[in-house]
Amino acid sequence: MQHFERPIVAGGLPLGHVLLVHEPSAIRHVLLENAANYRKDRLQRRVLSAGLSDGLLAAEGEQWRLQRRVLAPMFARKTVINFSSAMMAAAEALMDRWSALGERATIDVAAEMARVTLDVVERTIFSDGFGSDAEAIRVAMAVYFNTIGKISPLDILGVPDFVPRLSRFRVRSTLKFFEAEVDRVISTRRRILAEQPDRAPSDLLTDLLQALDSEAEDRITESEVRSNILTFIAAGHETTANTLSWAMFLLSQAPHWRERLEVEADRELSGPIPGVADRLVETRAVIEEAIRLYPPIAAISRVALAADDLHGEAVRPGSLIVISPYVLHRHRLLWDRPDAFDPGRFLGNARTTIDRFAYLPFGVGPRKCIGSTFALQEATLVLAAIVRQFRFQPQPGHVVWPTLSVTLRPANGLPMIVTRRPS
Ligand code: HEM
Repeated sequence: MQHFERPIVAGGLPLGHVLLVHEPSAIRHVLLENAANYRKDRLQRRVLSAGLSDGLLAAEGEQWRLQRRVLAPMFARKTVINFSSAMMAAAEALMDRWSALGERATIDVAAEMARVTLDVVERTIFSDGFGSDAEAIRVAMAVYFNTIGKISPLDILGVPDFVPRLSRFRVRSTLKFFEAEVDRVISTRRRILAEQPDRAPSDLLTDLLQALDSEAEDRITESEVRSNILTFIAAGHETTANTLSWAMFLLSQAPHWRERLEVEADRELSGPIPGVADRLVETRAVIEEAIRLYPPIAAISRVALAADDLHGEAVRPGSLIVISPYVLHRHRLLWDRPDAFDPGRFLGNARTTIDRFAYLPFGVGPRKCIGSTFALQEATLVLAAIVRQFRFQPQPGHVVWPTLSVTLRPANGLPMIVTRRPS
């Protein structure tokens, strides 16, 4: 296909002028150097902004700038390292569940990875738990994010939001319940912070509420707190779940790498937990290679405000620029053996040869993913915990194939047979 071989492909869709851009210097221009001329496009914003309209992902202009400044320290390396134990605890709960299934159980890895990443969300945002309704809230949360994660054909046509979408309509009561529960958890925590601040757990919710109550100029509002909680869950859980599913699939096809990861996990997971993700160098390389081959966000798009020029191609006001990490990461002009699974690309010196604008699982420029350190640490820890205890093979006869529904995930789940590693 020409997309995998040409730097820029221009075309006209019935909806307007489109440029598919897969050339590193043109990408640098759109997402970094001239980023002010390219705003997030409407389709993406609509899809991603259901209930999230005041959150970082959907905000624009001054509101976005202020939020990014306030939220950045919450996702900085030194904060994220403190989440290592919460992430490991979620991985261990997963291992306990699998152990209880007995030998050679068939599990849907895609569903299990969604569960563990939601568990991490719960332990890092709401570390004192959801209270007595925890299970009902978890179910509602899964429905919520499954619903807003699906693009309705009406969204693509740009039909206004007030036209009810069938899928949203059906689950409306679940959504209301979930939103009300999030509000309840927030107000309980505010009370604790006001009355007994020493008792407040240190997690993302406390950080957000402190930003709300701060005297500083860059306070965020109450509705921004709630929107950002929903945003972190929406942007962070399915993407990381898919990363883990693809990494498990790829490892099941590469016994040599599986063995290397087993050795690494045996060696490193018995040491101290904080900082362990940095020592799991090969596990991390497998994760980075998995999101090269199957980037969870398969398209980054922008709309041009003013005319511009990209590598000799004219950009018009209103042109849609689409950068597909999936195409970019398998581009014939940019990668050696683009379709081959080789985590070695991310180890040692090899990694320094990768062009910064040829590998974009987390985007680049001012709107790059705020949660990338969090996600890489989480995926690395969970994968290491799994390979340390289990081996896994796809269920015979099940065809594994990617499908795009906001994120790139395995079509029809990923049934795998898991067996305990011989000790
Ligand atoms: C493997 C997992 C993840 C992947 C592949 C991923 C990918 C991305 C990409 C490509 C963007 C940029 C979109 C664009 O420029 O149009 C983005 C933005 C964002 N991501 Fe992630 N993400 C992941 C995990 C997370 C996590 C764990 C969180 C939070 C807890 C998160 C929160 C966000 C937010 C808030 C933005 C918007 C940033 C802004 O506009 O300033 N992501 N992500």
